Amino acid sequence: MHIHKYERIWLVAGLAMLAFFIAVIATGAVVDGFVPPSRVQTIDPTKVAQTPPFDHPGLRKVADGAYEAYYVAQIFSFNPATISIPVGSRVTFYVTSSDVEHGFSIPETGVNTMVTPGWVSSVSHTFNKPGTFLLICNEYCGAGHQLMASKVEVK
Ligand code: CUA
Repeated sequence: MHIHKYERIWLVAGLAMLAFFIAVIATGAVVDGFVPPSRVQTIDPTKVAQTPPFDHPGLRKVADGAYEAYYVAQIFSFNPATISIPVGSRVTFYVTSSDVEHGFSIPETGVNTMVTPGWVSSVSHTFNKPGTFLLICNEYCGAGHQLMASKVEVK
């Protein structure tokens, strides 16, 4: 089979780039120890329902105006389904998944993280505007993905 010279050059260049990009990812993963974004700790994804504090997901007040919210993401819902906080509260969200990869995003805020089984993702936000904020899954996770949502009420 005859392959034109230019075509061969492009094939080699394409394969070289592919090899280079894979090497960059592999180096990041192995040498630099890259892990899922904003992780603070690991968890056994098969024992989420038995592992504190995720055995009792929900909102905890840690100080005046400061809260921690523990969420379990699972197909196709978030637990808790709703949290209510006063205006001006700073909330640190801790999220883990008991099944597959999910997303955790509150549009209009900076809250947006991946939720990877085996890891606890964490992100903080101060809610200075009253209203009901939709918290959605923005990683496709299956047939009911578009139903996966929860609410943050700020009053
Ligand atoms: Cu969970 Cu999409």
